[in-house]
Amino acid sequence: MDLPRKPTKTNVTAMRISTVIVLALMSLATVGAMNPHLSSNSLTFQAISCRKHSALLTEFGGVGDGVTSNTHAFRKAIEHLSTLAEDGGAQLVVPPGKWLTGSFNLTSHFTLFIDKEAKLLASQNESEWPLVEVLPSYGRGRDAPGGRYSSLIFGTNLTDVVITGNNGTIDGQGSYWWEKFHEEELKVTRPYMIEIMYSDQIQISDLTLINSPSWFVHPIYSRDVIIQGLTILAPVTEPNTDGINPDSCSNTRIEDCYIVSGDDCIAIKSGWDQYGIKFGMPTEDLIIRRLTCISPDSAGIALGSEMSGGIRNVRIENVTAINTQAAVRIKTARGRGGFVKDIFVRRMFLSTMKYVFWMTGDYKAHADDKFDPLALPMIKNINYRDVVAENVNMSANLAGISGDPFTDICISNVKIELSATPKKLQWNCTNIEGFSSDVDPPPCAPLAKAAKSGGCDFPEDQLPIEKVQLKSCSLEIPAF
Ligand SMILES: *[C@@H]1O[C@H](CO)[C@@H](O)[C@H](O)[C@H]1NC(C)=O
Ligand SMILES: *[C@@H]1O[C@H](CO)[C@@H](O)[C@H](O)[C@H]1NC(C)=O
Ligand SMILES: *[C@@H]1O[C@H](CO)[C@@H](O)[C@H](O)[C@H]1NC(C)=O
Ligand SMILES: *[C@@H]1O[C@H](CO)[C@@H](O)[C@H](O)[C@H]1NC(C)=O
Ligand SMILES: *[C@@H]1O[C@H](CO)[C@@H](O)[C@H](O)[C@H]1NC(C)=O
Ligand SMILES: *[C@@H]1O[C@H](CO)[C@@H](O)[C@H](O)[C@H]1NC(C)=O
Ligand SMILES: *[C@@H]1O[C@H](CO)[C@@H](O)[C@H](O)[C@H]1NC(C)=O
Repeated sequence: MDLPRKPTKTNVTAMRISTVIVLALMSLATVGAMNPHLSSNSLTFQAISCRKHSALLTEFGGVGDGVTSNTHAFRKAIEHLSTLAEDGGAQLVVPPGKWLTGSFNLTSHFTLFIDKEAKLLASQNESEWPLVEVLPSYGRGRDAPGGRYSSLIFGTNLTDVVITGNNGTIDGQGSYWWEKFHEEELKVTRPYMIEIMYSDQIQISDLTLINSPSWFVHPIYSRDVIIQGLTILAPVTEPNTDGINPDSCSNTRIEDCYIVSGDDCIAIKSGWDQYGIKFGMPTEDLIIRRLTCISPDSAGIALGSEMSGGIRNVRIENVTAINTQAAVRIKTARGRGGFVKDIFVRRMFLSTMKYVFWMTGDYKAHADDKFDPLALPMIKNINYRDVVAENVNMSANLAGISGDPFTDICISNVKIELSATPKKLQWNCTNIEGFSSDVDPPPCAPLAKAAKSGGCDFPEDQLPIEKVQLKSCSLEIPAF
């Protein structure tokens, strides 16, 4: 990642230092307590860039009572701070309180910092959510053919953006939207919680995200993305509450996240059918590590089903999934085109699973009926190794496409303990080919050829995004 600026101390830090000097000169330990303006919490956090300027939401009329709308305050604050982008950048601090807000847009060389005692509450008033165009690689909204609402936190055509905190919370208040979904009343696609488009150098970290109306974190058409330390929680019964969906993104690192979801914890995507084929932007060079997932109705990590721009060079390691349908699931269909190839997975600890391995070649959902049924996806070189699983109903449900087999599937060093009610057929393999070694229960005949000694591949080199080091930044939050 090309980081343009060296870290600079914020103005507030400089103020704090002069304050400390004044206090020391006066040698009066009680001054701080006597003067409320000197009372504040300083803290440090890790980010790709630190900012020269810092402001509080309250300086722009923000009211943290949980009732007053702060949409205007956020928009005004960011508009103002955007003028500092070329002067060392700025951070907007959301202090302790409950901050109701509609959708707002981010700017470049900018940090949004949410304090641990702060909670953003997403407005349930639809007029606080502007409509934006449908994604070109999808051709329509995911819930409805018409437009879509802008996400709560949205950014497009940006560089160097950080959304972080010391475990502050964003509450999407999704119940309003889930109800509309269940009642089939949605005419416009639900908003996501965070969406960043056509951007680079993005960090989203150290936050708790709850109850998104739909997907939580959606980086799309972007590169150099770091997502870490997120706790993402949605009721497991609510629709399309995917945790993190890297979509037509390259050079992305997702790590140390804990996700409970009604849909896939992570879904890797790259556009839908003829729209995704035409847009042609793959997701590539992605690492996912140290993920913990609970998703009783979906996968820990899904590849697809929208994968028409292609997905390649994905490395997944150290995944724990509990009470989840499958650990990693490939979802595709005739008409998708594209590819899923060079996928490497190692070290998974799985408990209470419907399947350990799952590939679905007839995932039917299409954008419209204009897809080309001759556009076949290519699924190739998929590697799984070092897997321990317990309380499993079925080891593998692997279904390729007739006339378009999924090839070079490699599975090694896998120990699966079955549940009390296991399926009779443990490995159901159709239209797939590959290799295996040290797998128990023993795999199906199409995988019976021995994997090479040492087991399935996992690349030992590092992706450029793995080499990016975060800097230590600081800020002050006044005590209220
Ligand atoms: C955010 O940016 C998008 C795309 O430029 C625009 O359509 C939308 O109206 C903006 N939202 C706000 C709140 O300004
Ligand atoms: C919804 O938001 C609009 C625009 O901000 C505002 O005029 C209206 O009063 C709000 N409605 C409610 C019920 O708060
Ligand atoms: C954002 O970037 C995309 C891709 O380069 C471009 O097509 C689009 O016009 C840009 N949008 C804005 C608002 O600059
Ligand atoms: C952040 O807060 C969530 C929700 O309270 C909690 O479960 C999680 O452990 C916290 N994470 C950290 C790193 O403190
Ligand atoms: C994965 O877990 C193993 C065993 O606990 C540990 O040695 C290794 O460092 C971890 N790798 C990553 C990338 O976290
Ligand atoms: C395993 O099968 C049993 C019996 O059909 C079922 O009750 C249970 O929910 C299944 N477990 C999972 C994780 O799918
Ligand atoms: C095995 O998979 C094929 C193809 O998906 C399916 O048609 C068949 O019903 C499955 N068999 C069992 C026993 O699950």
